[in-house]
Amino acid sequence: MGWINGNHPISRPDILFFMPTEIKFGFGKLQSLPTEFQIAPDLSQTTHAMLITDKGVAAAGLAEKVKQAFAESDYEIRVVYDETPAESDVNAVKQAARLAAEHDINLFLALGGGSVMDTAKAVSILATYGGEPGDYEGGFMVPGPIKPVVAIPTTVGTGSEVTLVSMVKDAESHRKLLISSPFLYPRAAVLDPEMVATLPGKLVAWTGMDALTHSIEAYTCTEHEPISEALAFRATEMIADNLEKAVIEAGPTEARAKMQLAATMAGIAFTNSPVGAVHAIAHAVGALYHVHHGLANAIALPFVMEYNLSECATGYAALAKAMNVAENGSEEALAKACIAAVRNLKSRTDVPTHYSQVGVPKTEEAAQKITQAAMEELCLAFNPRKGTEEELLELVRQTL
Ligand SMILES: NC(=O)c1ccc[n+]([C@@H]2O[C@H](COP(=O)([O-])OP(=O)(O)OC[C@H]3O[C@@H](n4cnc5c(N)ncnc54)[C@H](O)[C@@H]3O)[C@@H](O)[C@H]2O)c1
Ligand SMILES: [Fe+2]
Repeated sequence: MGWINGNHPISRPDILFFMPTEIKFGFGKLQSLPTEFQIAPDLSQTTHAMLITDKGVAAAGLAEKVKQAFAESDYEIRVVYDETPAESDVNAVKQAARLAAEHDINLFLALGGGSVMDTAKAVSILATYGGEPGDYEGGFMVPGPIKPVVAIPTTVGTGSEVTLVSMVKDAESHRKLLISSPFLYPRAAVLDPEMVATLPGKLVAWTGMDALTHSIEAYTCTEHEPISEALAFRATEMIADNLEKAVIEAGPTEARAKMQLAATMAGIAFTNSPVGAVHAIAHAVGALYHVHHGLANAIALPFVMEYNLSECATGYAALAKAMNVAENGSEEALAKACIAAVRNLKSRTDVPTHYSQVGVPKTEEAAQKITQAAMEELCLAFNPRKGTEEELLELVRQTL
C-alpha cells in the first residue's frame, strides 16, 4: 500500500480541482502588501479599502498593524468595521455593507478568523449586488464576481481564506445561512505569522483541530481524489508535528507559521473534497448550544472516525503515518492507531472529550435535537459511511 493512498480506488469519475486564490506567506508579509497590490493589474486601482475585523482581533493590536502597513501607501482604509460577532450574523453583514456603500469601497481586507472572513465575503456580495444575505443562500446563487476580498487569517483553522463558502447566522431563525459560490474565493490569502502570534493557546488548539478535521474528512470523503489527498495528507503531518508546540508557545513561532500553512492547505483540500459527518454534527451543536466550531469538531472527530472505520480503513491506515504512528500492522490495526493518535493529540492539547464538558446537556432530548439538525446538513451527503437516522443518533449519544 502506498502511503499517499496510492492503491485506494478513485471514487470520482472525473476531477475538477479549482483554486483561484493567490497565497502569500511570510514573516512580515503584511508590510509588502501595498507594493504587491500595486503591481497586480486587478488590484492596482482598488484603493478604497474597508478593514473588517472583530473586537478581539483589534484588542490584540492587529488592526493597528494593518493600518500601519497601508499608512504610507496609495491604499486608503476609509472605514474599519470591528463589530463582527462570533459566528457572525446577518445584521452585522447588512450594517457593514451599508458602511461600504457610504464610503464607496472597492477592496475588502478581512482580518480575523472564520467569523470575520465569512462576514467579509457576504459584505462584498451585498456591496456588489445589493439585497440581503438570504437572497444568495445555497449554491451558485451569487450572479458574478464580487469586489475583491483579501483574507488575512488570524486563527489556524477554518481555511475560509481559500474556500468558496460563507456561513452567517440568521438571528431570527437561529440557523446558519450557507452561501456557496465560486465567486466567493478570496482574491488573496495573506499568511503572516505575526497575525497568529497573539492567538490564545486554547484557540490555537480548537482552530487547529478544525484544520485537522478538514484534512481527515477531505481525505476520506466520498469525493476524495489524489490532488486533495496530497494536500490533506501533508496538512495532517504538519498539524501532528506542530499543534502541541503552537499551543504551548505564543509568538510568531515556526510552529504557528506551519499551523497557518497547514490550515490553508486543509482548506484547499476540503473546498474541493467536502467534509462529512463530523462537520454535520459540529454545525448542529454550534447552532443549538453555541459551542465554538473548532471545539465542536474536535469532540466529534474520533467518534465519527470509529463510526466510519468500516469504510475508511485504508484511508485512516495511510493517515496513521502522517499522525506519526510508528508501528506496522494490519490495515485495521493501523487505522485504529490513527484514531488513537487523534485522541492522544487532543489530550496533549487539553481539548475536552465530550460535549457535556462544554455545556451541552447529556440528555436524550439533546441527542435527538442534534441528530435531527445534523440530518439536514448538506455535508452529511459526503460522509463515507451511509447510515440511518437511528445510527447517527447512537453516534451522537456517544459524543455527549
Ligand atoms: N467559510 C469556511 O470555509 C469556513 C470553514 C470552517 C468554519 N467557518 C466558520 O468560521 C467561524 C469560526 O472561525 P474561527 O474558528 O476562526 O474563530 P473566530 O473567527 O470566531 O474567532 C474566535 C475568537 O478568537 C479571537 N481571535 C482571533 N484571532 C485572534 C488573534 N490572532 N489574537 C487574539 N484573538 C484572536 C476573536 O476575536 C474571537 O473572539 C464559524 O462561524 C464557522 O462556521 C467557515
Ligand atoms: Fe470546519
